[in-house]
Amino acid sequence: MTQSIITATGSYLPEKILTNDELSKTVDTNDTWIRERTGITQRHIAAEGEFTSHMATKASQRALQMAGYDADKIDGVIVATSTPDSTMPSVAAKVQAALGITHGPALDVAAACTGFVYALSVAHGWIQTGIATRILVIGAESMSKIVDWSDRGTCILFGDGAGAVILEASDDATRGVRALALEAQGEFGTLLGTNGGIGSTQTAGHLFMEGQEVFRHGVEKMASITLSTATKAGLNMADVDWVVPHQANARMITMIARSLKVSASKCVVTVPHHANTSAASIPLALDEANRDGRLKKGNIIAMPALGAGLTWGCCVLSW
Ligand code: UT7
Repeated sequence: MTQSIITATGSYLPEKILTNDELSKTVDTNDTWIRERTGITQRHIAAEGEFTSHMATKASQRALQMAGYDADKIDGVIVATSTPDSTMPSVAAKVQAALGITHGPALDVAAACTGFVYALSVAHGWIQTGIATRILVIGAESMSKIVDWSDRGTCILFGDGAGAVILEASDDATRGVRALALEAQGEFGTLLGTNGGIGSTQTAGHLFMEGQEVFRHGVEKMASITLSTATKAGLNMADVDWVVPHQANARMITMIARSLKVSASKCVVTVPHHANTSAASIPLALDEANRDGRLKKGNIIAMPALGAGLTWGCCVLSW
Protein backbone atom coordinates (compact mmCIF):
# COMPACT_ATOMS: atom_id res chain seq x y z
CA MET A 1 0.00 0.00 0.00
CA THR A 2 1.24 3.51 -0.79
CA GLN A 3 2.23 5.37 2.38
CA SER A 4 1.55 9.07 3.08
CA ILE A 5 4.59 10.55 4.80
CA ILE A 6 5.34 14.04 6.06
CA THR A 7 8.60 15.05 4.43
CA ALA A 8 8.79 18.75 5.36
CA THR A 9 7.22 21.37 7.61
CA GLY A 10 7.03 25.15 7.65
CA SER A 11 5.27 27.85 9.58
CA TYR A 12 4.64 31.56 9.73
CA LEU A 13 3.61 33.89 12.54
CA PRO A 14 2.76 37.56 11.98
CA GLU A 15 5.29 40.04 13.28
CA LYS A 16 2.93 41.82 15.69
CA ILE A 17 2.78 40.28 19.17
CA LEU A 18 -0.03 41.13 21.59
CA THR A 19 0.90 40.36 25.20
CA ASN A 20 -1.54 39.70 28.04
CA ASP A 21 -0.57 43.01 29.63
CA GLU A 22 -1.33 44.91 26.42
CA LEU A 23 -4.67 43.11 26.10
CA SER A 24 -5.61 43.98 29.68
CA LYS A 25 -5.51 47.67 28.73
CA THR A 26 -8.50 47.22 26.40
CA VAL A 27 -10.56 44.50 28.12
CA ASP A 28 -11.22 43.64 31.78
CA THR A 29 -8.63 40.88 32.25
CA ASN A 30 -5.11 40.45 33.58
CA ASP A 31 -1.92 38.52 32.88
CA THR A 32 -2.22 36.34 36.01
CA TRP A 33 -5.75 35.15 35.17
CA ILE A 34 -4.88 34.37 31.54
CA ARG A 35 -1.68 32.48 32.47
CA GLU A 36 -3.34 30.49 35.26
CA ARG A 37 -6.48 29.53 33.32
CA THR A 38 -4.94 29.01 29.84
CA GLY A 39 -1.11 29.08 30.00
CA ILE A 40 -1.15 31.78 27.31
CA THR A 41 1.33 34.67 27.55
CA GLN A 42 1.01 36.22 24.09
CA ARG A 43 -0.56 35.85 20.64
CA HIS A 44 0.48 36.97 17.13
CA ILE A 45 -1.85 39.29 15.21
CA ALA A 46 -1.95 39.65 11.43
CA ALA A 47 -1.09 43.09 10.07
CA GLU A 48 -3.63 45.17 8.24
CA GLY A 49 -3.85 43.81 4.71
CA GLU A 50 -2.22 40.52 5.76
CA PHE A 51 -4.69 37.74 4.99
CA THR A 52 -4.93 34.01 5.65
CA SER A 53 -3.65 33.17 2.15
CA HIS A 54 -0.55 35.33 2.69
CA MET A 55 0.33 33.52 5.92
CA ALA A 56 -0.42 30.12 4.34
CA THR A 57 1.84 30.95 1.39
CA LYS A 58 4.73 31.96 3.66
CA ALA A 59 4.40 28.77 5.75
CA SER A 60 4.35 26.74 2.50
CA GLN A 61 7.47 28.46 1.16
CA ARG A 62 9.30 27.48 4.36
CA ALA A 63 8.15 23.88 3.99
CA LEU A 64 9.32 23.88 0.36
CA GLN A 65 12.71 25.26 1.45
CA MET A 66 13.02 22.36 3.88
CA ALA A 67 11.95 19.87 1.19
CA GLY A 68 14.58 21.30 -1.14
CA TYR A 69 12.50 21.40 -4.31
CA ASP A 70 10.47 23.91 -6.28
CA ALA A 71 6.75 24.52 -5.85
CA ASP A 72 5.99 23.00 -9.27
CA LYS A 73 6.67 19.57 -7.75
CA ILE A 74 3.51 20.05 -5.62
CA ASP A 75 0.39 18.55 -7.21
CA GLY A 76 -2.24 19.33 -4.58
CA VAL A 77 -2.98 22.10 -2.05
CA ILE A 78 -5.35 21.80 0.91
CA VAL A 79 -5.94 24.61 3.40
CA ALA A 80 -7.79 24.06 6.66
CA THR A 81 -9.29 27.39 7.68
CA SER A 82 -12.40 29.07 9.08
CA THR A 83 -11.13 32.54 8.23
CA PRO A 84 -10.67 32.65 4.43
CA ASP A 85 -9.74 35.89 2.63
CA SER A 86 -12.91 35.54 0.55
CA THR A 87 -15.81 33.11 0.22
CA MET A 88 -14.41 32.16 -3.17
CA PRO A 89 -11.95 31.40 -4.62
CA SER A 90 -10.63 29.20 -1.84
CA VAL A 91 -7.53 30.09 0.16
CA ALA A 92 -5.96 26.93 -1.32
CA ALA A 93 -6.45 28.23 -4.87
CA LYS A 94 -4.88 31.55 -3.86
CA VAL A 95 -1.89 29.78 -2.29
CA GLN A 96 -1.53 27.63 -5.40
CA ALA A 97 -1.42 30.76 -7.59
CA ALA A 98 0.95 32.60 -5.24
CA LEU A 99 3.37 29.68 -5.39
CA GLY A 100 3.12 29.50 -9.19
CA ILE A 101 1.63 25.99 -9.23
CA THR A 102 -0.53 25.35 -12.30
CA HIS A 103 -1.65 21.74 -11.90
CA GLY A 104 -3.47 19.52 -9.39
CA PRO A 105 -6.46 20.23 -7.12
CA ALA A 106 -6.85 22.98 -4.50
CA LEU A 107 -9.41 22.79 -1.71
CA ASP A 108 -10.32 24.47 1.59
CA VAL A 109 -11.48 22.33 4.49
CA ALA A 110 -13.76 23.89 7.12
CA ALA A 111 -13.77 21.88 10.33
CA ALA A 112 -12.72 24.71 12.67
CA CYS A 113 -9.95 23.72 15.09
CA THR A 114 -10.09 20.10 13.84
CA GLY A 115 -9.48 21.32 10.30
CA PHE A 116 -5.87 20.21 9.97
CA VAL A 117 -6.65 16.61 10.96
CA TYR A 118 -9.60 16.54 8.54
CA ALA A 119 -7.32 18.05 5.85
CA LEU A 120 -4.71 15.32 6.45
CA SER A 121 -7.41 12.70 5.88
CA VAL A 122 -8.36 14.31 2.54
CA ALA A 123 -4.71 14.47 1.47
CA HIS A 124 -4.19 10.83 2.51
CA GLY A 125 -7.22 9.93 0.37
CA TRP A 126 -5.81 11.82 -2.63
CA ILE A 127 -2.57 9.85 -2.27
CA GLN A 128 -4.38 6.52 -1.90
CA THR A 129 -6.46 7.17 -5.03
CA GLY A 130 -3.57 8.55 -7.11
CA ILE A 131 -5.12 12.02 -7.41
CA ALA A 132 -1.94 13.63 -6.08
CA THR A 133 1.50 12.56 -4.85
CA ARG A 134 2.98 15.65 -3.15
CA ILE A 135 0.45 17.73 -1.27
CA LEU A 136 0.79 20.91 0.73
CA VAL A 137 -1.49 20.46 3.75
CA ILE A 138 -1.84 23.79 5.51
CA GLY A 139 -3.65 25.13 8.55
CA ALA A 140 -3.98 28.92 8.43
CA GLU A 141 -6.12 31.32 10.42
CA SER A 142 -6.80 35.01 10.99
CA MET A 143 -8.69 34.47 14.25
CA SER A 144 -8.14 38.14 15.20
CA LYS A 145 -10.62 39.06 12.45
CA ILE A 146 -13.55 37.10 13.92
CA VAL A 147 -12.86 37.47 17.63
CA ASP A 148 -15.08 39.85 19.58
CA TRP A 149 -12.39 42.02 21.17
CA SER A 150 -14.80 43.17 23.88
CA ASP A 151 -15.53 39.60 25.09
CA ARG A 152 -12.89 38.67 27.66
CA GLY A 153 -14.18 35.08 27.75
CA THR A 154 -12.92 34.44 24.21
CA CYS A 155 -10.61 37.21 22.95
CA ILE A 156 -7.78 36.25 25.30
CA LEU A 157 -7.56 32.77 23.77
CA PHE A 158 -6.94 33.25 20.07
CA GLY A 159 -4.09 34.19 17.75
CA ASP A 160 -3.15 34.23 14.05
CA GLY A 161 -0.66 32.13 12.10
CA ALA A 162 -0.11 29.31 9.63
CA GLY A 163 1.61 25.94 9.54
CA ALA A 164 2.23 23.69 6.54
CA VAL A 165 3.39 20.15 5.92
CA ILE A 166 4.19 18.34 2.69
CA LEU A 167 2.48 14.95 2.58
CA GLU A 168 4.11 12.69 0.00
CA ALA A 169 3.35 9.30 -1.51
CA SER A 170 6.04 6.81 -0.57
CA ASP A 171 6.64 3.07 -0.59
CA ASP A 172 8.59 3.24 2.69
CA ALA A 173 6.39 0.95 4.77
CA THR A 174 8.06 2.05 8.03
CA ARG A 175 6.76 5.62 7.82
CA GLY A 176 3.54 7.55 7.24
CA VAL A 177 -0.07 7.71 8.34
CA ARG A 178 -0.89 4.68 10.50
CA ALA A 179 -4.49 5.51 11.40
CA LEU A 180 -7.01 8.35 11.21
CA ALA A 181 -10.31 8.85 13.00
CA LEU A 182 -12.81 11.68 12.49
CA GLU A 183 -16.02 12.51 14.33
CA ALA A 184 -18.65 15.26 14.42
CA GLN A 185 -21.73 15.91 16.51
CA GLY A 186 -23.63 18.89 15.11
CA GLU A 187 -26.01 18.85 18.06
CA PHE A 188 -23.24 20.67 20.00
CA GLY A 189 -23.02 23.45 17.41
CA THR A 190 -24.43 25.98 19.85
CA LEU A 191 -21.39 25.68 22.16
CA LEU A 192 -18.88 27.28 19.81
CA GLY A 193 -19.30 29.20 16.58
CA THR A 194 -19.82 32.58 14.98
CA ASN A 195 -23.02 34.62 15.20
CA GLY A 196 -23.05 35.34 11.49
CA GLY A 197 -22.24 33.99 8.07
CA ILE A 198 -22.49 34.91 4.41
CA GLY A 199 -25.83 33.12 3.93
CA SER A 200 -27.48 34.54 7.05
CA THR A 201 -26.05 37.97 7.87
CA GLN A 202 -23.74 38.59 4.90
CA THR A 203 -20.89 39.03 7.39
CA ALA A 204 -18.55 36.54 9.02
CA GLY A 205 -19.95 37.38 12.45
CA HIS A 206 -18.07 37.16 15.74
CA LEU A 207 -16.94 34.15 17.71
CA PHE A 208 -18.92 32.92 20.71
CA MET A 209 -18.08 30.03 23.02
CA GLU A 210 -19.36 28.30 26.13
CA GLY A 211 -15.84 27.84 27.43
CA GLN A 212 -16.41 25.38 30.25
CA GLU A 213 -18.60 23.04 28.18
CA VAL A 214 -16.17 23.09 25.25
CA PHE A 215 -13.32 22.43 27.69
CA ARG A 216 -15.13 19.39 29.09
CA HIS A 217 -15.89 17.96 25.63
CA GLY A 218 -12.34 18.76 24.51
CA VAL A 219 -10.60 16.83 27.26
CA GLU A 220 -12.92 13.83 27.09
CA LYS A 221 -13.15 13.57 23.27
CA MET A 222 -9.52 14.31 22.43
CA ALA A 223 -8.33 11.75 25.00
CA SER A 224 -10.72 9.03 23.87
CA ILE A 225 -10.08 9.52 20.14
CA THR A 226 -6.32 9.47 20.69
CA LEU A 227 -6.67 6.12 22.40
CA SER A 228 -9.01 4.65 19.77
CA THR A 229 -6.84 5.89 16.87
CA ALA A 230 -3.71 4.38 18.44
CA THR A 231 -5.60 1.11 18.90
CA LYS A 232 -6.73 1.24 15.26
CA ALA A 233 -3.04 1.59 14.31
CA GLY A 234 -2.22 -1.50 16.40
CA LEU A 235 -0.42 0.61 18.99
CA ASN A 236 -0.88 1.55 22.62
CA MET A 237 -0.04 4.82 24.34
CA ALA A 238 3.37 3.50 25.46
CA ASP A 239 4.30 3.29 21.74
CA VAL A 240 3.50 6.97 21.18
CA ASP A 241 6.61 9.18 21.27
CA TRP A 242 4.89 12.55 20.90
CA VAL A 243 1.39 13.87 21.36
CA VAL A 244 0.95 17.03 19.27
CA PRO A 245 -2.56 18.12 20.24
CA HIS A 246 -4.66 21.08 19.15
CA GLN A 247 -3.37 23.96 21.24
CA ALA A 248 -6.49 25.41 22.89
CA ASN A 249 -5.47 25.70 26.52
CA ALA A 250 -2.40 24.41 28.42
CA ARG A 251 -4.61 23.08 31.26
CA MET A 252 -6.58 21.08 28.73
CA ILE A 253 -3.39 19.47 27.33
CA THR A 254 -2.25 18.57 30.86
CA MET A 255 -5.62 16.91 31.57
CA ILE A 256 -5.59 15.00 28.26
CA ALA A 257 -2.05 13.73 29.01
CA ARG A 258 -3.14 12.69 32.50
CA SER A 259 -6.17 10.88 31.17
CA LEU A 260 -3.99 9.05 28.60
CA LYS A 261 -1.35 8.31 31.29
CA VAL A 262 1.22 9.98 29.05
CA SER A 263 4.04 12.04 30.56
CA ALA A 264 3.61 15.79 30.06
CA SER A 265 7.15 15.79 28.60
CA LYS A 266 5.81 13.82 25.61
CA CYS A 267 3.37 16.60 24.70
CA VAL A 268 4.39 19.38 22.33
CA VAL A 269 2.98 22.58 23.83
CA THR A 270 3.07 25.88 21.95
CA VAL A 271 -0.08 27.49 23.32
CA PRO A 272 1.87 29.79 25.73
CA HIS A 273 3.47 31.73 22.85
CA HIS A 274 1.06 31.06 19.95
CA ALA A 275 -2.30 31.06 21.82
CA ASN A 276 -5.09 29.12 20.06
CA THR A 277 -4.59 29.45 16.29
CA SER A 278 -7.45 27.03 15.50
CA ALA A 279 -6.63 24.89 12.41
CA ALA A 280 -3.08 26.26 12.33
CA SER A 281 -2.16 25.10 15.82
CA ILE A 282 -1.09 21.50 15.08
CA PRO A 283 1.05 22.25 11.99
CA LEU A 284 2.62 25.22 13.83
CA ALA A 285 3.51 22.90 16.73
CA LEU A 286 4.77 20.19 14.35
CA ASP A 287 7.09 22.67 12.65
CA GLU A 288 8.46 23.93 15.95
CA ALA A 289 9.17 20.42 17.26
CA ASN A 290 10.56 19.30 13.90
CA ARG A 291 12.96 22.22 13.61
CA ASP A 292 14.23 21.96 17.19
CA GLY A 293 14.99 18.27 16.62
CA ARG A 294 12.39 16.70 18.91
CA LEU A 295 10.63 14.79 16.13
CA LYS A 296 12.86 11.99 14.85
CA LYS A 297 12.38 9.70 11.86
CA GLY A 298 10.25 6.73 12.90
CA ASN A 299 8.74 8.46 15.97
CA ILE A 300 5.07 7.72 16.52
CA ILE A 301 3.10 10.96 16.69
CA ALA A 302 -0.54 11.35 17.76
CA MET A 303 -2.39 14.53 16.75
CA PRO A 304 -5.81 14.93 18.38
CA ALA A 305 -8.01 17.99 17.86
CA LEU A 306 -11.48 19.28 18.71
CA GLY A 307 -13.31 22.34 17.45
CA ALA A 308 -16.58 23.94 16.46
CA GLY A 309 -19.16 21.57 15.05
CA LEU A 310 -18.40 19.98 17.33
CA THR A 311 -15.84 18.16 15.24
CA TRP A 312 -12.96 16.09 16.54
CA GLY A 313 -10.40 13.68 15.23
CA CYS A 314 -6.92 12.25 15.49
CA CYS A 315 -4.13 11.19 13.16
CA VAL A 316 -1.45 8.73 14.29
CA LEU A 317 1.60 8.55 12.06
CA SER A 318 5.16 7.40 11.97
CA TRP A 319 7.38 10.47 11.35
O1 UT7 B 1 -10.16 25.66 20.12
C1 UT7 B 1 -11.49 25.22 20.17
C2 UT7 B 1 -11.78 24.69 21.47
N1 UT7 B 1 -11.73 25.74 22.50
C3 UT7 B 1 -11.40 25.38 23.70
O2 UT7 B 1 -11.07 24.25 23.89
C4 UT7 B 1 -11.50 26.36 24.82
C5 UT7 B 1 -11.98 25.66 26.06
N2 UT7 B 1 -12.29 26.54 27.19
C6 UT7 B 1 -11.35 27.20 27.89
O3 UT7 B 1 -10.18 27.17 27.56
C7 UT7 B 1 -11.79 27.91 29.15
O4 UT7 B 1 -13.12 27.57 29.43
C8 UT7 B 1 -11.66 29.46 29.11
C9 UT7 B 1 -10.19 29.85 29.12
C10 UT7 B 1 -12.33 30.03 27.87
C11 UT7 B 1 -12.32 30.08 30.32
O5 UT7 B 1 -11.72 29.56 31.51
P1 UT7 B 1 -12.61 28.98 32.71
O6 UT7 B 1 -11.69 28.56 33.72
O7 UT7 B 1 -13.56 27.98 32.11
O8 UT7 B 1 -13.34 30.28 33.18
P2 UT7 B 1 -14.91 30.59 33.34
O9 UT7 B 1 -15.48 30.92 32.00
O10 UT7 B 1 -15.55 29.50 34.13
O11 UT7 B 1 -14.88 31.88 34.23
C12 UT7 B 1 -14.41 31.84 35.59
C13 UT7 B 1 -14.39 33.25 36.12
C14 UT7 B 1 -15.68 34.02 35.90
O12 UT7 B 1 -15.84 34.91 36.99
P3 UT7 B 1 -16.85 34.58 38.19
O13 UT7 B 1 -18.19 34.40 37.55
O14 UT7 B 1 -16.33 33.32 38.80
O15 UT7 B 1 -16.75 35.77 39.05
C15 UT7 B 1 -15.43 34.82 34.67
O16 UT7 B 1 -16.21 35.97 34.57
O17 UT7 B 1 -13.37 34.00 35.43
C16 UT7 B 1 -13.98 35.16 34.84
N3 UT7 B 1 -13.27 35.40 33.58
C17 UT7 B 1 -12.20 36.18 33.48
N4 UT7 B 1 -11.51 36.90 34.38
C18 UT7 B 1 -10.44 37.58 33.92
C19 UT7 B 1 -13.59 34.87 32.36
N5 UT7 B 1 -12.71 35.31 31.45
C20 UT7 B 1 -11.84 36.13 32.12
C21 UT7 B 1 -10.73 36.87 31.72
N6 UT7 B 1 -10.04 37.57 32.65
N7 UT7 B 1 -10.28 36.88 30.44
